[in-house]
Amino acid sequence: MNRSLIFLAGGQGVRMNTALPKQFQKVGGKEIALYSFEKFLAEETITEIVVVTHQEWRPLFEAKRKGLLFAEPGTTRQESVKNGFLKLKAQEDKVVATHDSARPFISSELIEQVYQAAEAFGAAACALPISYTVKKADREGLVINTVDRSDLYEIQTPQALHYSLMEKGFDLVEKGGISVTDDVSLAEILGYAPKLVEGLKKNLKVTYPEDLSLVELYLK
Ligand code: CTP
Ligand code: MG
Repeated sequence: MNRSLIFLAGGQGVRMNTALPKQFQKVGGKEIALYSFEKFLAEETITEIVVVTHQEWRPLFEAKRKGLLFAEPGTTRQESVKNGFLKLKAQEDKVVATHDSARPFISSELIEQVYQAAEAFGAAACALPISYTVKKADREGLVINTVDRSDLYEIQTPQALHYSLMEKGFDLVEKGGISVTDDVSLAEILGYAPKLVEGLKKNLKVTYPEDLSLVELYLK
């Protein structure tokens, strides 16, 4: 199957609250986005890459690879994914992966596992079992109950799904005015059960300023 990638680097990083969007902050002498981008570039099976980013950041990626596609970011992550999706060549025989540029520490094994699982199951995401205690509470902060965490997972990227599921999923969410917080949800609303692949603890999403120290730690 053909393999494509939508690389998401179009967020503003409101929670990080720095002048530069977090994915373009340098850690260890390199922009955060480039760590995972280079991992994807090393995958020879990926034949089509669209980078979702503002115009001014295109040269950073173009310097690494010729022939990239680009899309403008939307106001939400979901819109950014859609904008990226619209730049891809329409092909039935294709699996599309998405990745948050704010997650620098993916591995080539993980990329391969996610594509393979999506090829086999229609959709796949990497995930980690939740290891902490989860409680449900009301608006006053009073606990309603403790949730059984044995079948709960924290979802990461990369995620991947068949091109046709993404197309149909976007049609459905747009007709229904639905918002989804991740990409395999586009397959879920069509009745598919995405396959979870074991993610990495290291595969954190840089979100708050404190996370930058973690990135530095993992780089050592
Ligand atoms: N993203 C995007 N377009 C958006 C929003 C997010 O391409 N409109 C990308 C971000 O660049 C990031 C990834 O999606 O790599 C995950 O989103 P998140 O961590 O929420 O990043 P931001 O939206 O930039 O951060 P915040 O929510 O704190 O503003
Ligand atoms: Mg966000």
